[in-house]
Amino acid sequence: MSKKKTVLDIQKMKVDGEKIAMLTCYDYPFARVMDGCGIDMILVGDSAGVVVAGYDTTLPVTMDEMIYHTRAVMRATPKALVVTDMPFMSYQIDIADARRNAGRLIKEGGSAAVKIEGGVNVAPVIRALVEIDIPVVAHIGLTPQSIHRMGGYKVQGKRVEQAERILEDALAVEAAGAFAVVLEGIPQNLARRITESVAIPTIGIGAGPHCDGQVLVIHDILGLCEKYSPKFVKRYVDARELVSAAVTAYIDDVRQGTFPTDEHSFN
Ligand code: KIV
Repeated sequence: MSKKKTVLDIQKMKVDGEKIAMLTCYDYPFARVMDGCGIDMILVGDSAGVVVAGYDTTLPVTMDEMIYHTRAVMRATPKALVVTDMPFMSYQIDIADARRNAGRLIKEGGSAAVKIEGGVNVAPVIRALVEIDIPVVAHIGLTPQSIHRMGGYKVQGKRVEQAERILEDALAVEAAGAFAVVLEGIPQNLARRITESVAIPTIGIGAGPHCDGQVLVIHDILGLCEKYSPKFVKRYVDARELVSAAVTAYIDDVRQGTFPTDEHSFN
């Protein structure tokens, strides 16, 4: 059995030109499947608020919820590197609060690293976490926790000055000590420029093919989130259809008395 992946293994993948495969995950059964398939990294994303809890945004997600999801994922991941999102308002107040909350995700959740949204503006927080040995993945471009500032989930960096700012964000989070950076919702040429400008791995979502790795939300690739269907998602299966067929067959069986049979009964 291969050993648990570390931050260093992920960084080496960029050096070796190996693409990094990452997915979000929020529970034990999906984590078991993904780890068994050989996924490199799992993100316990605050997207849990949208795809699991049914909120419209990630903003209501709490620290306790992130710890709960992380614990479940950790019990099923002997190999993948697990990173947990710091939810909205868990790192924005001050450095002491950010350290306390990141520490909880590592100590109580069991995660190996945390992810923080923001660039130049959160560089001091990244530095403060790295100083106490908490590895950080940064997240720049379209940052869902900034939905109210952005006025919706819109592609960022289309205008030249905005693209320059996102490049500055990438350089700032690298200088602050982030070991990788998620690039979300930016034009592919900007993602390529950032990927060539930083030594840390870039992991894209809606950022085109030139990143060092890719991340998607598991519910999106399985067709389990009908609320929205962004252009950047590739749906690999229609699990909603599969689950509906199974549930409908079960309802019919119960109503017609064809379940349970002797096979499912005790004597
Ligand atoms: O919470 C999440 O799922 C994320 C990904 C979209 C990168 O942050």
